[in-house]
Amino acid sequence: MSTFQAPKGTYDLIPPSSATYLAVREAIAAPLRNSGYGYIETPGFENVELFARGVGESTDIVTKEMYAFETKGGDKLALRPEGTASTLRAALEANLHKGGNLPVKLWYSGSYYRYERPQKGRYRHFSQVGAEAIGVEDPALDAELIILANHSYRSLGLSDFRILLNSLGDKECRPVYRAALQDFLRGLELDEETRRRIEINPLRVLDDKRESVQEQLIGAPMLRDYLCEACKTYHEQVRELLTAAGVAFEDDPKLVRGLDYYTRTTFEFVHDGLGSQSAVGGGGRYDGLSEMIGGPALPSVGWALGVDRTVLALEAEGITLDLPAATSVYAVPLGEEARRVLFGKVTELRLAGVATDFAYGGKGLKNAMKSANRSGARLALVAGERDLAEGLVQLKDLQSGEQTAVALDAVVDEVRRALA
Ligand code: HAM
Repeated sequence: MSTFQAPKGTYDLIPPSSATYLAVREAIAAPLRNSGYGYIETPGFENVELFARGVGESTDIVTKEMYAFETKGGDKLALRPEGTASTLRAALEANLHKGGNLPVKLWYSGSYYRYERPQKGRYRHFSQVGAEAIGVEDPALDAELIILANHSYRSLGLSDFRILLNSLGDKECRPVYRAALQDFLRGLELDEETRRRIEINPLRVLDDKRESVQEQLIGAPMLRDYLCEACKTYHEQVRELLTAAGVAFEDDPKLVRGLDYYTRTTFEFVHDGLGSQSAVGGGGRYDGLSEMIGGPALPSVGWALGVDRTVLALEAEGITLDLPAATSVYAVPLGEEARRVLFGKVTELRLAGVATDFAYGGKGLKNAMKSANRSGARLALVAGERDLAEGLVQLKDLQSGEQTAVALDAVVDEVRRALA
């Protein structure tokens, strides 16, 4: 293994493509900031217990994919595989739910870790932007989150995605369904591991991707037919609100999701250009999670969108984001005196909010102009001894090649005018 190789299942974000990742994060966050969600940041690791209890002891995430470890001090920790349990833990710890101002609306952006079999769109280190609305049971909140995620994707220009929607019932109706499903599944021909899953987490069997299993699942009882009146009404309201907002969705009675905390509304955003790792985002309601981790009853709902997969979705649709060049002005000094003077102008321009860079390392004119062009700057600021002696610098438009002499003390104003 080369020393310069990132660990398996990971990759680096490097310029220029890293700018797209930042823009995607920003595009997902913008509608949240605009809708009352406050930014939260939690540690990259937590006590392993939080995820075991929160995400669920029987999930793949906890049993197979968690980076769990013991510290030298004997603490049992895990790199966070997702953000919901951490966010709720932090909200409870800070008593945010006691301010009498529910729901507590939070958004986050960060790195998550799952020891998965790497493939395109599935990594061991990946990035999510997520949102959680804690402490309120209101179908409008579920609808709000789905509408906001839809808005984010649309604002990036994506259109080849679908929203899958389901209800997983609540603590009244789900156990009844679970028992009925178990009865059905026990009669099928399944391998050892799947049989074990029937006893621990039967709904996950519905999610089995193997054709041999899917064939046998035809005729399996559907949760839809077991929903209690309260869950049915709730779900109908979510659907109506989405429809009224003009957000198209597909009812997917088989949508289960890979985390145990979900109740009622669950949804997934799938992109049709991504092959097997098509879920670009997902979420749902988790009315029981707070109690599962030792808190009070706090019905909540949220989602997380995968930044890596959203970038892949942009590629799949051939979308190039219209990102402004990182640098607007590139300064090219010719000689020692010019270096000193222009460096001062660079600092001045930066303080004035103009993105400016400088030809470091005493490059010759030709090399420096090459760097100026590569930087994407619109303008070059060039000065030699003779210009300076006259109190001037040359302002060159790098697209048209047009060059004008500008008085040294008018540089900031002239640059601003040229960029406007
Ligand atoms: P999740 O469905 O496990 O949900 O992950 C959300 C998104 O993260 C996925 O749709 C996908 O885009 C991305 N993702 C997950 N695993 C990987 C991976 N190995 N490589 C690349 N991308 C990945 C959650 O994490 C829940 N916490 C969402 C939520 C928030 N539910 C309620 N609130």
